[in-house]
Amino acid sequence: MSDAPLPAEGRPPAFTYRRARKGISSRATPVLCCDDVPLPALVERFGTPLYVYSASTIRKRFKAFDRAFRGIPHTICYSVKANSNLAILRLLRKLGCGFDIVSGGELERVLAVDSRAAKQVVFSGVGKTALEMRSALHAGILLFNVESESELQRLAECAGRLKKKARIAVRVNPDVPADTHAYISTGLRQHKFGIPINHARALYAHASAMHHLTIAGVSVHIGSQVTSVEPFAATMERVAELVCELRSEGHRIDYVDAGGGLGIDYDSTNETSFFEQVELYARALVRPLRGLEVRLLLEPGRAIVGPAGALVTSITYKKENSGKRFLVTDAAMNDLVRPSLYDAYHEIIPVNANTEQQYEIFDVVGPICETGDFFAHDRRMREPAEGDLLAILDSGAYGMSLASNYNSRPRAAEVLVDGKSLKLIRKRESTGDLFRLENI
Ligand code: LLP
Repeated sequence: MSDAPLPAEGRPPAFTYRRARKGISSRATPVLCCDDVPLPALVERFGTPLYVYSASTIRKRFKAFDRAFRGIPHTICYSVKANSNLAILRLLRKLGCGFDIVSGGELERVLAVDSRAAKQVVFSGVGKTALEMRSALHAGILLFNVESESELQRLAECAGRLKKKARIAVRVNPDVPADTHAYISTGLRQHKFGIPINHARALYAHASAMHHLTIAGVSVHIGSQVTSVEPFAATMERVAELVCELRSEGHRIDYVDAGGGLGIDYDSTNETSFFEQVELYARALVRPLRGLEVRLLLEPGRAIVGPAGALVTSITYKKENSGKRFLVTDAAMNDLVRPSLYDAYHEIIPVNANTEQQYEIFDVVGPICETGDFFAHDRRMREPAEGDLLAILDSGAYGMSLASNYNSRPRAAEVLVDGKSLKLIRKRESTGDLFRLENI
């Protein structure tokens, strides 16, 4: 295989077209590869729909993220919800990564990967149950990001029963607009998340009187897929101010947890590469914290794994209804729900570059019985044939982790590619798996 152009200018090279080199005619169509592995070879072995991830891309992005924060003591706590496959968690753990969890299930995943990882785990979420709190206390996690007075109380009770101390940060709601899809914006007054920042001091005062809690930090998360760094800077200004106030009131604040949310470039229109963007992001977060001597905790999900994954699907049928042309794929909204749920854009490219075909306009849709089951509307692409493979790019984050079994569809298999090597990191589900827990 020889190197060939990237699918799109500036796109991180997890998925590139390459041409077979020797032995085969130089006119062989370029074929999409993940690292050094051609996708058709993976499909032959594992079928479609298939999630394919590039380990080298995940590593590169993690390291770039880490490097961007070199000026400040920090811990990256990868947000497990973005992609919770054990092999991906293990890969990140090997790089020294911590984890942001939002459920007992995510905690179990992290501990299954490395039982010693707990000391780098932060627990976020607006509805932690007593059971989840107890598991996290047993494991000895780094920090609970508490989101309400009732939660504070519940956590103190749980810790008291276990005769343990829970380290806490209060998640504050800074009332900063994040300029993202309404469903994934979290830092406005009307959202369910956090404590209004101007009520936070009262809650810290309350917490400091509770025996089994240790105040350790302040946390915030304003939303996801935030592509401009200004909202992060504005948020950190407010948090920094709060840290000073809390310290002047005698609280010990060692950590600032800045949450996640840095967006990625789904449509490749951004002039700034990820590597520049993450530097800008780091500057925006770090500047307001200068001189405060805190350890910064970061909870990126999408920025680390999003562009490292693609969903590979085969075209089952082509059809035309009243002049509208459809490509019906064997993947559906149950495999990747982002277009249906957020009207999200994902680039869709052919696995075998069919450069001889004309451009046409298609809706790319799944087989599920809902009009909302689509991957793209009115997408201009070279005319493919039935049976051709398509890659839905940037599906590494919130793809498989949001997959369901709707329409009794077994979930896709997942493969992790690393250079020339590959590993099936999740088998394709069988229909039997789907009703294994049911009784008649
Ligand atoms: N920390 C907290 C507290 C969060 O709620 C989230 C995401 C993150 C970190 C990670 O955010 P990221 O760096 O990945 O943006 N399903 C949606 C995204 C939901 C995000 C939920 N919270 C999507 O597919 O766009």
